[in-house]
Amino acid sequence: MTEKVRIEAIAAALAALEESDKWESEREDEINVLVKKNGYELGNCRCCYNYGSTPFESWEKVFQYRELRDYVENGLEERVYCVLGSSTGWMVFYGVEYFTGITAVGVDLLESQIEVSREMVERFGIENCEFYTKDAVEYVREHGAQIGVCIVSSLCWHSVVRYNTFYELLRTMRAGSCVIAYHNEEIDAVLYDEWKFELVHEVKNLAFSWRTHPSRSLYIYRKVKSSSRLSKQEIIAQQAEYLHALEEQDAEHLAICNLFSQ
Ligand SMILES: C[S@@+](CC[C@H](N)C(=O)[O-])C[C@H]1O[C@@H](n2cnc3c(N)ncnc32)[C@H](O)[C@@H]1O
Repeated sequence: MTEKVRIEAIAAALAALEESDKWESEREDEINVLVKKNGYELGNCRCCYNYGSTPFESWEKVFQYRELRDYVENGLEERVYCVLGSSTGWMVFYGVEYFTGITAVGVDLLESQIEVSREMVERFGIENCEFYTKDAVEYVREHGAQIGVCIVSSLCWHSVVRYNTFYELLRTMRAGSCVIAYHNEEIDAVLYDEWKFELVHEVKNLAFSWRTHPSRSLYIYRKVKSSSRLSKQEIIAQQAEYLHALEEQDAEHLAICNLFSQ
């Protein structure tokens, strides 16, 4: 099978699963437990676990951007291609099937989705990928230095979790590493010492399966030296102010979400 035919077969198997009642009920049961148990910072409202998928055509448009493609093909140097919020594994499989010789990692909070990813690995004999049930921030804190390219699939995440994820990525990734983001607000505000993420390219009008966001942009960033003249103290103060604003927004969001989940 050619790589595209294999990717289509894997994507069709994942799409068929979206129709299965068993999978949906297992997912719901797990979400109910997590919503009760988890602290706010892990996203204790239902929307943080929303399901959606990125079609291969959208992913491919992003990775056809020359600078990113060249980087993945030539610049990873033992580091991994990582998807945070990998869900059932869609974009992990696209990456590892499309590019020769890379290693891919998928991370998600939901064990039931990670199990599906592992079943797909067995069923299709997919090589060079690993999946972990873990919070994205924790994963990056421990393994960020091994990530060369990271997709942060954070469309539905708590905004403080998004901010902390990008902060940890900026702190731990090597200079020149790439991040692909679904948002461009907080990533522009993330600073670490003299480092920042610089927007390289916006890929517009991409299709998604989300009812709420059927089409939007993805943003390609690189870790670069910042020309900002802010002192360390000013950076800390700016970040605290930004996080405080995000927390207020999230408290409001959580209250609304709880109202509808009762
Ligand atoms: C947008 S969906 C993933 C969509 C998928 N990657 C795709 O193909 O577009 C977001 C995923 O993030 C997961 N998630 C939410 N909060 C998380 C966190 N703090 N750490 C890791 N995963 C998280 C959810 O369980 C959900 O599966």
